Amino acid sequence: MSYYKILFKITGSIAAYKSAYLISKLVQNGFEVKVVATDYALKFVGKATLEGLTGNKVFTDSFEEGEMMSHINLNKWADLTIVCPATANTINKLAAGISDNLLTSLFLAHDRSKPYLIAPAMNTLMFDHPATQASLSKLKKWGVQILPTAEGYLACGDTGTGKLLEPDVIFEYILSALKKNGTTEKRRLKIMITSGGTKENIDGVRYLSNLSTGKTGAAIAEYFSRNFHEVTFVHADNSVIPKIAGKFISYFSFGDLNKQLKSLLSNEDYDAVIHLAAVGDYSVESIEVNGKRNKLPLEYKLDSTGDEAILHLKRNDKIIKHLKEYSKDKNLLLVGFKLTNTQNENERITAVKKLFREADCDAVVLNDKSDRDEKDQQKNFILLSQAQKSDACQTVEELAHKIETILLNMIKLKVESCK
Ligand SMILES: Cc1cc2nc3c(=O)[nH]c(=O)nc-3n(C[C@H](O)[C@H](O)[C@H](O)COP(=O)(O)O)c2cc1C
Repeated sequence: MSYYKILFKITGSIAAYKSAYLISKLVQNGFEVKVVATDYALKFVGKATLEGLTGNKVFTDSFEEGEMMSHINLNKWADLTIVCPATANTINKLAAGISDNLLTSLFLAHDRSKPYLIAPAMNTLMFDHPATQASLSKLKKWGVQILPTAEGYLACGDTGTGKLLEPDVIFEYILSALKKNGTTEKRRLKIMITSGGTKENIDGVRYLSNLSTGKTGAAIAEYFSRNFHEVTFVHADNSVIPKIAGKFISYFSFGDLNKQLKSLLSNEDYDAVIHLAAVGDYSVESIEVNGKRNKLPLEYKLDSTGDEAILHLKRNDKIIKHLKEYSKDKNLLLVGFKLTNTQNENERITAVKKLFREADCDAVVLNDKSDRDEKDQQKNFILLSQAQKSDACQTVEELAHKIETILLNMIKLKVESCK
């Protein structure tokens, strides 16, 4: 797994509470975060919060037993360092080369080959002070990336510059600094992943559904999110939810899912859809009990004393066939999933070919029900491209990586052919 490691330094600003949100967002996106806090920072945000969010101990003391070399080792460990929020005091100390605590010692021991970001947060007068401004330009000359500040209401009651940027904006700065540094050179894809299974209500307590748990979809979403792609996760209301900071849309029935996909794809530009949702082939139309036909769904619980009940089903359209047609971006790439339940190789391949033909998929993942383990976790996938090139993947992680490679290659080819 490709985690990116962030050394998150916090100083004693009233904006320190915002760092908790940003740290949480980083962790949810697969980053590993270690926090270095000044003594004053801990007056604003507690160690318990920071340790709880990161799962790592919080570093404050240069002379802590067993951690004497952390002023060197934490720099080696991190892919990127950010001081957020950065006080005027710490900014001025860094620019003066003062190294009187763990945070400032780490700065002096930083080799400057990896990104070092500073997100200032202070009162306008402190920010505009010649000492602070001179320090900021000095740090900039040394290769430190100084993030802009926002303008607005400050905790002291004044309005002006010096306000910490919103954490979501700082998150984007972190991503682009990693990208620029070559830590991630990949293009960031905007991906939609559909997951879980549709349900059709019969009455107030019963529904018709399928085996899908959403585990595979959630694992694929986590992979894409961890690798910096922007994920929209469209999921059944009770399916497994990935630990990511993407956009979440839930659906219940075939009709819901179809409506949601049409609206999302026609309003936003997606690079690709990975369509894992197990869409029911039929919707329920009516139920016949003792010769009486009831139109479905019923709001109340159907009486269960009848000897026989006949469910009348209506064929659903294949949503996957319409995804490219719904899409605003006519270059949308589509990855379909075909779950088979047969040991016969020819039958499996025929099913895949049919999906390529009918839905204009760019890639299809074949998996068979026999490859589900006792926890309903799917293993052993075959990823097929339109050229029928096939790639076996044993784990979801491997599959997600190969799907990512295929999508990035296809997009690169499309861009090159347009030049
Ligand atoms: C309630 C309160 C809020 C503060 N907010 C800020 C702030 O937003 N920015 C800043 O530069 N200093 C702020 N300070 C002052 C710093 O906490 C002070 O300069 C401290 O020495 C900073 O230490 P550090 O840089 O080692 O964390 C604040 C102080 C208090 C009491």
